[in-house]
Amino acid sequence: MNHANVTTSASRKDDHVRLATEQADARQQPGDFDDVTFMHHALAAADFDSVTTETQIFDGSWGSPIYINAMTGGSASTGRINESLARVVAETGTAIASGSMSHLLKDEASASTFTSLRKLNPNGFVFANLSANATVAEARRVVDAVEANALQIHINSAQEIVMPEGDRSFGHWTENIAAIVTAVGVPVVVKEVGFGLSAETVAQLAALGVRYVDVSGRGGTNFAAIENARRDQNDYAALLSWGQSTANCLVDVAETAERESVTVLASGGVRGPLDVAKALSLGSVAVGVAGGFLHVLQREGEAALIAEIHRWNAQLRAIQALTGAARPSDLLRSDLLITGGVAEFARLRGIDITHYAQRGAHKRRSLHDG
Ligand SMILES: Cc1cc2nc3c(=O)[nH]c(=O)nc-3n(C[C@H](O)[C@H](O)[C@H](O)COP(=O)(O)O)c2cc1C
Repeated sequence: MNHANVTTSASRKDDHVRLATEQADARQQPGDFDDVTFMHHALAAADFDSVTTETQIFDGSWGSPIYINAMTGGSASTGRINESLARVVAETGTAIASGSMSHLLKDEASASTFTSLRKLNPNGFVFANLSANATVAEARRVVDAVEANALQIHINSAQEIVMPEGDRSFGHWTENIAAIVTAVGVPVVVKEVGFGLSAETVAQLAALGVRYVDVSGRGGTNFAAIENARRDQNDYAALLSWGQSTANCLVDVAETAERESVTVLASGGVRGPLDVAKALSLGSVAVGVAGGFLHVLQREGEAALIAEIHRWNAQLRAIQALTGAARPSDLLRSDLLITGGVAEFARLRGIDITHYAQRGAHKRRSLHDG
């Protein structure tokens, strides 16, 4: 064990939490989800009692499509955050992803900073998490450690480039991902960390055997800003606006994901239950939140985060009722108006977005004719 490396990766994690918490709270910021609005149909509302947030995913079901995305573990203080998050998800029935578990591979003594996610949350849905540098044996080791229901593999080239001590070789990632997907024995989600996945990337991942992606786009936690703040020379401020927003990613990947039978999850700058509904309506089956929930936990505590998650679930259900979506997947039939920067992005990418605004048209026409 290289002591210097172990210390570096634990203190890096503490830096990430500190700097992410110092970043402006994405829940208060304007973002690309503002370019996406639901068409209001005044007779579309469903009876509240007929509406559920239950979500079919990974050959099972979650009580809600909202999950807490990968953040912490590895150091003493982020181990305490994982314990808090584990109690929160056990109480609210929310799925959760561990932060990168590479530290556990370097230092067995740090295992308990991750395993609390399972010990304090025995019946919950837990994702293990590693980078695409991982081998199959390493992937199996972290899945076993938290008895994970699924594994997230993060691909974060933009973060590594700005990170002062970041990786500089990426060519082996595709080979590693293909090997892990084949051999790890649980579903694998390949995710970004806030710079977004493109249609081309999703097609490449599908060819490697990947069946699940989390687009994790720009708009919330900004790892270019976080890593740049950790630099004392060679400022990378030029890359602070790198990447595609989550709304742009969802519009971009929709057709490819459908063609390749890839299930899409979304995260990155999701500010509240209305953004969750928009992300679901744009084609994702589940929606992750990282920095926004960390802000609540760090500033207001566990009880506040529990209340916040209950509020998001209740309001998602209310928005579903308003649009007549008995289940989250029914939001795929809602009429969505896409304007502004997201519409301009779609135009440049050659994507027709008019169909999003007319998805209920068939239903209304047949009612009229019939
Ligand atoms: C403090 C912090 C640490 C993170 N660590 C990881 C990580 O270890 N592995 C990973 O895949 N993503 C990590 N992420 C990225 C999130 O999972 C997510 O993809 C990204 O923050 C965008 O979501 P957000 O805008 O809701 O924060 C981290 C995010 C935060 C805020």
